[in-house]
Amino acid sequence: MLLGLKKAGFDRVVATPHMRPGMFENSREDLLAAFNKTCLALSADLTTPAFPAVGLSSEHWLDDVVLQRVSEGTGVPYPGEHAVLFELAPGPFPQRLANRLYELRRKKLRPVLAHPERYEPVWKDAEVVEPLLDVGVLLQLDVAALAGKYGRAPRKAAEELLEREVYSLACSDAHKPGDLADVTAGIEALFKRVGEEEARFLLSNGPAAILSGNFDLLD
Ligand SMILES: [Fe+2]
Repeated sequence: MLLGLKKAGFDRVVATPHMRPGMFENSREDLLAAFNKTCLALSADLTTPAFPAVGLSSEHWLDDVVLQRVSEGTGVPYPGEHAVLFELAPGPFPQRLANRLYELRRKKLRPVLAHPERYEPVWKDAEVVEPLLDVGVLLQLDVAALAGKYGRAPRKAAEELLEREVYSLACSDAHKPGDLADVTAGIEALFKRVGEEEARFLLSNGPAAILSGNFDLLD
């Protein structure tokens, strides 16, 4: 998959394995151990130009348990520890969502929300992301949504959010090599829809800002 992502244009890949109690029981220690094991197994390959640079983070399920872990330092923020990735259930947003995410900013961690285009409240009314943007939450597009991987509603929602210019970055959300065709098609669709400058911003400058903590570029 790393070879495929490099071919698709990614020079750096930050893996974000799920942390979701009851479904993906991954602690910080588990993820670090698995990542180190993978890097060790690939150590000779990772130095070749065919491979992207790699890093580790996690896609944190937003519930009380995981939120508590992140705020006490046992989540896995993005490398650089300036920002942290969350995802929600597809249904109604949790109570006090914006406030709960805002509280992380006191820990100097900028919340990034994964694939807003895949949440039902956003399909009904894209305005629901406004309170999140007001507290500095950064929105991350899953490019495969533009290729129709998740159906019509997420594709339409992604197009609308692009139109509103509310995304800060775009990602592959690839889980396996079989996902790469949709990633490539999604990147193509992104370039067509927003043009080269904005597409490059979302795929390159936005992610770089998250890793460096230079959020001025995104606010
Ligand atoms: Fe996700």
